[in-house]
Amino acid sequence: TMSNSREKTAEKGPKKLVVCIKTFGCQMNEYDSQVATGLLEAAGFEIVKELPLTQPSSQRGEGKGEGGADVILMNTCSVREHAEDKVYSRLGALGKVKKTNPELIVGLMGCMVEEHREKLFKRFPQLDLMVGTRNIKELPALIEEIQKNRRQVAKIKQDGISIEYTDLIKREGGYHAWLPIMTGCDKVCTYCIVPITRGSEVSMPAREVYREASRLVSEGVQWITLLGQNVNSYKGDLCHSEPFVCHPERSEGSEAQGKLREESRKQILRPEGFRMTESSSTFPELLKMLCQIEGLKRISFTTSHPQDATEELFRVIAQNPKISRRFHLPLQSGSNSILKRMKRLHTYQEYKVKIDLMHKIIPDISVTTDIITGFSGETEEDHQATMRALSEIHYDSAFIYKYSLRPGTPAGKLPDDVVREVKERRHEELLTLHRKIARAKSEQWIGKTVNVFCEEKSSKTPGHLIGRTDQDKRVVFVAGENLVNTFVRVTLKELHHETLFGVLA
Ligand code: 5AD
Ligand code: SF4
Repeated sequence: TMSNSREKTAEKGPKKLVVCIKTFGCQMNEYDSQVATGLLEAAGFEIVKELPLTQPSSQRGEGKGEGGADVILMNTCSVREHAEDKVYSRLGALGKVKKTNPELIVGLMGCMVEEHREKLFKRFPQLDLMVGTRNIKELPALIEEIQKNRRQVAKIKQDGISIEYTDLIKREGGYHAWLPIMTGCDKVCTYCIVPITRGSEVSMPAREVYREASRLVSEGVQWITLLGQNVNSYKGDLCHSEPFVCHPERSEGSEAQGKLREESRKQILRPEGFRMTESSSTFPELLKMLCQIEGLKRISFTTSHPQDATEELFRVIAQNPKISRRFHLPLQSGSNSILKRMKRLHTYQEYKVKIDLMHKIIPDISVTTDIITGFSGETEEDHQATMRALSEIHYDSAFIYKYSLRPGTPAGKLPDDVVREVKERRHEELLTLHRKIARAKSEQWIGKTVNVFCEEKSSKTPGHLIGRTDQDKRVVFVAGENLVNTFVRVTLKELHHETLFGVLA
């Protein structure tokens, strides 16, 4: 019925423009792009699939405005210079396209909009539209306005929350959904642009998260990944001990929605058998609450700051088999002096104590991390400390980045003094070490029988399914298509490159 109503809205009025949305950066951006797609489709726009950036531009149809699109939106990321450079070079190319096709509308969404704001209009006259992370709802109207008036438009709201729950969202894949629960970051990591682009922490009220999660499950979703720049410091608003009343009906229009919100603010979320004791709901409490949704089979979350990853959280994970056994806990550096310069608020030893505690409480947990190499002032000794940390902690997966100075951040004032060749060499050393460790860790699984969620048919090997273990590791095994979307037991047999192969137990 949902898609019916969508089609109906789409039928109304004359045929509108074709929009191509390209997403850069994190999963929060992917979610926002799905929301933008849904809202634009409901308003009658046609959305064309993002065309792979790896194709040569001649095949991408750039001359025709990206495969015939009338509007090109880029949902941007500011976390490293490289991410921004990709957008700048596409803007350059689109400027040329506009010389032959002046009707083309070029717009930006996401973090670069928050970071650079209207300044970009001067530098890129080919840019027509800048939409802030809190203004996604206005996209259809803004595009129409540009089409009519042909002038540069920026809408960048600075307060409120940048999360929009809507059943118009165009999800990809049936059984998995992203679900942002908070945005922004109140930490002060000196290298990081996020506090500037996404502002301070704001959480979605717990009852709205619960309601949206339930709605997703009613649509067939079985696996939800909770998103936030720092999910562990989630703080839902006040919850009292009155009975929970759910509003399954969809609210139309913003006024009705406002009233409904007002109503539900009084009627408090309390799923069956769950008692709120705190005056505000914390991340562990939210997890417990979501675990009670029948039909929801797996809950993952990302990302966490070590300071807010508490023993209470570990215990909640240990007690709830629905919660994914993969914990992403960025370390950034193994050197205490670098951690201090980064203002990470902990030493390596304190971080290690936390990891050990996590392993003790959740023995089957798999830990993954982020590392930045070549931060301002990083010596060879600091680098060796990070190498040691990798050998000690044995991460299952690690994203290793070369430090990229972000103007405007606290570290923007410090010299970017590790020269490129040294950064590259250290990056290579860390990667090589990590790959060896990760491989050895994967090999330890061989011979074990584990839970696997079947995701899809393998496109490469017919008759095989692809699934994920509780630790989020990819597994390929022989099984019938009818098992897709179910949990099975698989005995792991061998490791080929990074993929485990198994047989149904
Ligand atoms: N340079 C390199 N990597 C960065 N990250 C954040 N800011 C920077 C930067 N300026 C990395 C961190 C973070 C991940 C999302 O991106 O490792 O955890
Ligand atoms: Fe950036 Fe993460 Fe630190 Fe926040 S906690 S400032 S997002 S690195």
